[in-house]
Formats: sequence, C-alpha cells, structure tokens
Amino acid sequence: MTTMPIRTLGDPVLRERTRVPERFDAALARLVDDMFETMYDAPGVGLAANQVGLVGRFFVYDDGDGHRGFVADPELSELDGEETHDEGCLSIPGPYAPTTRALRVRLRGRDLEGSPLDITAEGLLARIFQHETDHLNGMLYIDRLDDAGRRDVMRQLREIEQLRRGDAPAR
Ligand code: NI
Repeated sequence: MTTMPIRTLGDPVLRERTRVPERFDAALARLVDDMFETMYDAPGVGLAANQVGLVGRFFVYDDGDGHRGFVADPELSELDGEETHDEGCLSIPGPYAPTTRALRVRLRGRDLEGSPLDITAEGLLARIFQHETDHLNGMLYIDRLDDAGRRDVMRQLREIEQLRRGDAPAR
C-alpha cells in the first residue's frame, strides 16, 4: 500500500462533482487500500476520493470507535437533530471550527462489491458521513460556516503557514 498526496484548498478537484465507479473490481479495491493508508497516515477519520485527485464518488472512513468502511454513491436521508462540534479537514490542514451538522443520519450507498449498504449513524460517525458526502458534491465544511467562521479558519490557516515558515504570527 502507498499513501497518496492529499489535495488542498484551491485545488479545483475539490470542487468537482464526482462519478459513481463503473466497476467494483480489484483495481478499485487497490485504490481504496491506498486511500485507507493515506487517511491513517494523515491522520484523519475520513477521506473522499476527490481529496486524492480521483473523480470517483466514494469515500473511506474510520471513526476510531469500531466503525470503519468504504461507501460509494452515498445518499443521506432522515437527517435529525443538530449538533455543533469542532470540525477540520485534511484538505484544509490545521484549522478547526465549530460546525453545525445533523446529529443523526441514515446513509445509503454501495459497498466495495457494489452491493447496497444502509447505515444509521449518530454523533461523530454521522458527522463524518455528512462531511465526506459534501466532499463528493464539491463542497467543503467551510462552506457551511458563516462569514465570521470562515474568516477565523482563514486566519488560523495563515498563522499555521507563518509558523511553518518560522515567522511569528501576525495579529
Ligand atoms: Ni474533509
């Protein structure tokens, strides 16, 4: 298995709508192995195909609490409740911002064999499913923040970049 470069904010592939895989075959399984490796190496709790430059409509996830898997062609329904929690993204590395999501969701899609799957999730797992499904629709979590929230993420990004360069953060 190998890790893949993760695309970051500004890369147009993150804004592309993705396509359902035509074949659920060994080649797809190998790609998915690499996506898991990339996600664990980052480390993150979810990774959508377009984050590694693929236009496939699928993602991998592991909430660190026993729920791990692959979902193609995800469709969310029965969104219920609301929870605001810090959220980040491997494609916007560093910042976190309080983001409001449905507390519970039902996710339908297809597994690595192309067979239907149907999962009801709550809390972090529900948040991951919403975040990754957004990715596959060309959407990022910062799109769900208000202007102040988005500005805060951009400020955090600038500070992190300055720290990486060894400058003192500008205020
Ligand atoms: Ni993300």
